[in-house]
Amino acid sequence: MCGIVGYIGHKEALPILLKGLRRLEYRGYDSAGVAIAHNGTFKSVRAVGKIDNLAAKLQNENIQGTFGIAHTRWATHGGVTEENAHPHTDCSGDIIVVHNGIVENYRELKDKFLKGHTLRSQTDTEILAHLIETQYSAFAEASADKQGALRAAVQSALSYVRGTYGLVVMHAKHPRTLIAARLGSPLVVGVGDKEYFIASDTSPMLAHTQQVIFLDDEEMVEITDTGVQIFNLQDKKIDKHTEHIDWSEAEAEKGGFANFMLKEIFDQPTVIKDALRGRLVEDEGTAHLGGLNMTDVDMRSINRVILIACGTASYAAMVGKYAFERLAGIPTEVEVASEFRYSDPILDKNTLVFGISQSGETADTIAALREAKRKGAFVRGVVNVIGSTIARETDGGTYIHAGPELAVASTKAYTNMIAVLVMYALQFGRLRRVTVATGERLVKAFREISVKMEQSLKIESEVKKIVEKYKQYKNFLFLGRGVNFPVALEGSLKLKEITYIHSEAYPGGEMKHGPIALLSPDFPVVAILTKNQLYDKMRSNIEEIRARKAPVILIATEGDEQAKELADDVIYVPPTMELLEPLVNTIPLQLFAYHMAVALGKDVDRPRNLAKSVTVE
Ligand code: F6R
Repeated sequence: MCGIVGYIGHKEALPILLKGLRRLEYRGYDSAGVAIAHNGTFKSVRAVGKIDNLAAKLQNENIQGTFGIAHTRWATHGGVTEENAHPHTDCSGDIIVVHNGIVENYRELKDKFLKGHTLRSQTDTEILAHLIETQYSAFAEASADKQGALRAAVQSALSYVRGTYGLVVMHAKHPRTLIAARLGSPLVVGVGDKEYFIASDTSPMLAHTQQVIFLDDEEMVEITDTGVQIFNLQDKKIDKHTEHIDWSEAEAEKGGFANFMLKEIFDQPTVIKDALRGRLVEDEGTAHLGGLNMTDVDMRSINRVILIACGTASYAAMVGKYAFERLAGIPTEVEVASEFRYSDPILDKNTLVFGISQSGETADTIAALREAKRKGAFVRGVVNVIGSTIARETDGGTYIHAGPELAVASTKAYTNMIAVLVMYALQFGRLRRVTVATGERLVKAFREISVKMEQSLKIESEVKKIVEKYKQYKNFLFLGRGVNFPVALEGSLKLKEITYIHSEAYPGGEMKHGPIALLSPDFPVVAILTKNQLYDKMRSNIEEIRARKAPVILIATEGDEQAKELADDVIYVPPTMELLEPLVNTIPLQLFAYHMAVALGKDVDRPRNLAKSVTVE
């Protein structure tokens, strides 16, 4: 939540910061702001709404300078107003702050330290600017190291803070110095050619450098024209390596698509190959995911798997559960991270916990994994963003290699998560009960999956026609069984988050226990009826819907002519092995939600109230 970007170098800062903000807009888009240092003062401009509003406002300003910070906000404390937009300043306007996170004790800090200060917003962040102000004068007077005074003031201020922060500070008396600190909200430093960047993730810096340093919790950085120095909060210097990031800027572009979500839906057949590459072992009928860091003995000792995730990632985890139980015979649970962390979970050294997360920064998932680690379980990550907190805090795991996912609604990360979890299940299964022949069949199905996903995308024009027919409906029910129940959940979530249409998802067999009461000719049902072991059961459920005269849209397997008799509309997908069905069956549902949102004139990439990376509890 909230995106931060800062620049110090030899180029004009404003275009770099604005472009960086656009990259980070997925993190929040309630308001945005920028501050550029020029001739010993700061020029700051803020605007409510998306980055476009800020850019329009900036057109009337003449702001020049090669040093500045910017922020895109997802409101936590204080409404969506210009006063609450970042950057925030102290009383004098000398100290400028942008912040991602929550200062939990901000009222306490205000009462204790800020008597007589003039506060101009309702935010917790502004408290930080004033708190640094209270500390700065003492350090500036006492310290012979004038340069170090700002760093010392920030360290001292942060020692009083309870909560989370990714914080960047500038001071008019330290004209070319950026101080940043991290606790619980990500920050990355980009090291370019005589220029430096600081941001919430690597995307704003990819056009300029792929050399980065990931800050860890309780670390801070001082960036000047001459370089980067990292300290802990007690001012002890820390040596950190610069890492090379493979993601290119081109990967983070729309590539001719109308928006990121459509591009990312169409990326899926390509990026699934990246998830599989080098991980399938044909002649042994297995998969090998190198980063697991577990011996075969460790793997055989596991008698319980827990998959922890939120939202879409938790639906990918549900497919993972089927795979682990079916292939490896290991009892597997899916836990929503926000519940797990407070559930006093019972874990031991025979439990393997996977944290599944696109961003690797979801606060609830991070906290749940820390709890699991504390209780002695094996804790591993299934993550997309390289160098993210979950990737660094777990003792091993796997990158899903979906590439940058910038639309708020997750698509390609979901399918790649499923691919990785099924491969893990196969790897464990082959050490237990899966025969080489079954393993080989699954490996073969994996090899064909990219082409099948391409075929699934070819139905886009069909989906558009169906959307035209159904776009006036206000409610939808999604149904699936077995491995397609999580697909129904995901289809329903996609629809509600980007179109704001009410939808629900149920297992097909559960409908008659309540939800069937909702059905009427005004309540269409989207059902997944592909040719698998539950086909006949699901078919009966659809007959029950027909009897209630609800319109039916079916996702069916190519060649299934009977599906047409059951439904008002049918979308055909290619057949594959049951465990891989979600990879092809989800695509029409993603397209359905996407085209519905376009037809209704919604902002597909930036749906209201949401942010991509949920870094607050
Ligand atoms: C839905 C969506 C969210 C995320 C959830 C977890 O389209 O994107 O439900 O899946 O917030 O995010 P990550 O995977 O980053 O932990």
